[in-house]
Amino acid sequence: MSNKINFILNNEEVSTSAYIGMGLLDFIRKNQRLSGTKEGCREGDCGACTVLVGELTNDKIEYRSVNSCLMPLGDAQGKHIVTIEGFNIEGLNPLQEAMVDEGGTQCGFCTPGFIVSLQGYFIANENVNTTDAIESVDGNICRCTGYAGIKRSAERIVKLVTTNKFQNKNHLEKLIQLKLLPEYFLTIPNRLKKINFEIKKNGANGKAPDYFVSGGTDLYVQKWETMLESNIKLISGGKKYSGIQVVKDKIRIGGTTTVSEIMNSQVIQKYFPEITNQVKLFGSLPIRNRATVAGNIINASPIADMTNFFLSLNSRITLNNGTKKREMFLKDLYKGYKTLDKKPNEILESLSFRTPPENSLFNYEKVSRRTYLDIASVNSSMYIELKDNKIIIAHISAGGVAPIPLYLGKTSNYLKGKEVSEAIINEVIGIMLTEISPISDARGTIEYKTLLLRQLIYSHFMKFFPDVISVEEIV
Ligand SMILES: Cc1cc2nc3c(=O)[nH]c(=O)nc-3n(C[C@H](O)[C@H](O)[C@H](O)COP(=O)(O)OP(=O)(O)OC[C@H]3O[C@@H](n4cnc5c(N)ncnc54)[C@H](O)[C@@H]3O)c2cc1C
Ligand code: FES
Ligand code: FES
Repeated sequence: MSNKINFILNNEEVSTSAYIGMGLLDFIRKNQRLSGTKEGCREGDCGACTVLVGELTNDKIEYRSVNSCLMPLGDAQGKHIVTIEGFNIEGLNPLQEAMVDEGGTQCGFCTPGFIVSLQGYFIANENVNTTDAIESVDGNICRCTGYAGIKRSAERIVKLVTTNKFQNKNHLEKLIQLKLLPEYFLTIPNRLKKINFEIKKNGANGKAPDYFVSGGTDLYVQKWETMLESNIKLISGGKKYSGIQVVKDKIRIGGTTTVSEIMNSQVIQKYFPEITNQVKLFGSLPIRNRATVAGNIINASPIADMTNFFLSLNSRITLNNGTKKREMFLKDLYKGYKTLDKKPNEILESLSFRTPPENSLFNYEKVSRRTYLDIASVNSSMYIELKDNKIIIAHISAGGVAPIPLYLGKTSNYLKGKEVSEAIINEVIGIMLTEISPISDARGTIEYKTLLLRQLIYSHFMKFFPDVISVEEIV
C-alpha cells in the first residue's frame, strides 16, 4: 500500500501526500498553481472547473469530463487528469482559435471549462456531429456570450475532424495531426501502467469511515470543507462494486455504477430503449460521469431520479458490512426523511431487478423548472406486465410528493387483475391521492405538486394505452 496518491497531471507524474478527501480543484489550483481551471459555483452547476479524467481499461484509455470541484483527489489515483493547460501546444490549438474567431469568449471565465468539455467530446467520439458536440457542454454555463459563438466553434471543429481523413492513423493520432491534442497523449497509457493503483487511506486503519464516497456529487456539494480531513472511504475506484450484468433472470447493477454507464449500457438499452432520452435529464454530462446509483439511493433525496426509476422495477438492494451481506427491497430502505434501514458501516454493494419480460411496459417522467441541469419538482415511473389485456403486475413510484422516495404500494396493488379503462385510471388517481403528502416549497405548492403527479400518472397510461386515454381528456 503506497502512502501517496500517484497520477499523471497533464504531462507530469504527480506523487502527493495530500489528503485523499481534498477536492481535486483545490489541488490543481492551490498545490499545483494551475489557475486555468476556474472555481465558480463549487456545486457542479457552472462547469468552470471541468477537467478530463483518463482511465485505463484493458489497455485502452477512456477520457470523461468531470467537475473537479466535486471529485476527491484520491480518486485521481492511477489516472490521467487533464486541465486546460494540458491541451497547450505552441500557440492556440484549432478549438481555442475557433473560440476567439467566432466570438465564443468574452470575459473568458467559463472558456477553459467549455474547451475542456469539447476536447473531451472529440477525444471520446470517433464519429462526431454538431448536435452531440453541443450537448457535451450541457454542464457549462456562460454569462457573457449568449452561446452562439460557442456553438459555431464546436461546428467548426466538427467540420475539421470530419473533412480530414488520415490513412493508417488511430483516433488519437488523427487528433494530434490536427493539432487538437499535444503529442504526449500517446505516451500516457504506458506511463499509467507503471503507476501504483492502490489507494492510500485517510485516518485510522480499521476504524469505520466517517463517509463512504462514491462519485462525491452529493457529498462535495453538501460538505466539501468537512471532507478534507475526514476519515473517508473511496469506493468508486476499481470494478469491485460497479458493472451491469444479466444473472439468470435478473439484471444486477453494482452500487458504484455511474449514471453515464447505465445510459450507455447495451443491456439497459435493450430492455429500456428510451433510457438515453430519459437519463439525459439527470444533471449534466460531467455529473452523470461521476454520479452513482448507490449515492443516489443512500443520499435519499425524495426526488432522486435513479431511485425513482429503480423503485418502479421493484428492485432489491444488497448491503455489505464487510463480513455480512443482507438483501431487502429498495422500497423498504426508507423509514422517514433521510432515515434509512442501514447501519453506518454498510456499503450498498448492488441493486437487482427481474429482467423485464416481453409483456412488460415501462415509463419514466420528470418535471423540473429547467430542462437540463435541474432536479425534479415531481418525478414518477411506472412498470406493468400484461396478460390477456389485464395488468398482472404493477409498480409505480413518485418523487417530490413525500419525505422519502415513494413507492405507491396501494395504487400499484389496486391495478393487479384490472383491464385498463378511463374509469380505472380515475380510480388509480383517487388512490394515489391517499398515499402522498407533498409540502409547499421552492419547487411548488402542495396543489401544484399534486396536480403534476396526477398528470404524470395520466401520462404513463397515455403511453401504455393510447386507445384508452388521450391528451384531450386530461387537459
Ligand atoms: C449539479 C448537480 C445536478 C444533479 N442533478 C441530479 C438529477 O438530475 N437527478 C438526481 O437524482 N440527482 C442529481 N444530483 C444529485 C447527485 O448527483 C446524485 O444523487 C448522485 O447519484 C449521487 O451519487 P454520488 O456517487 O455522487 O454520491 P456521493 O456524493 O458519493 O454519496 C452520496 C451519499 O451516499 C453515500 N454513499 C455513496 N455510495 C455509497 C455506497 N456504495 N454504499 C453506502 N453509502 C454510499 C455517501 O456516504 C453519501 O451519504 C445532482 C447533483 C449535482 C451537483
Ligand atoms: S466550480 Fe462550478 S461546477 Fe465546479
Ligand atoms: S465568456 Fe464570460 S462567462 Fe463565458
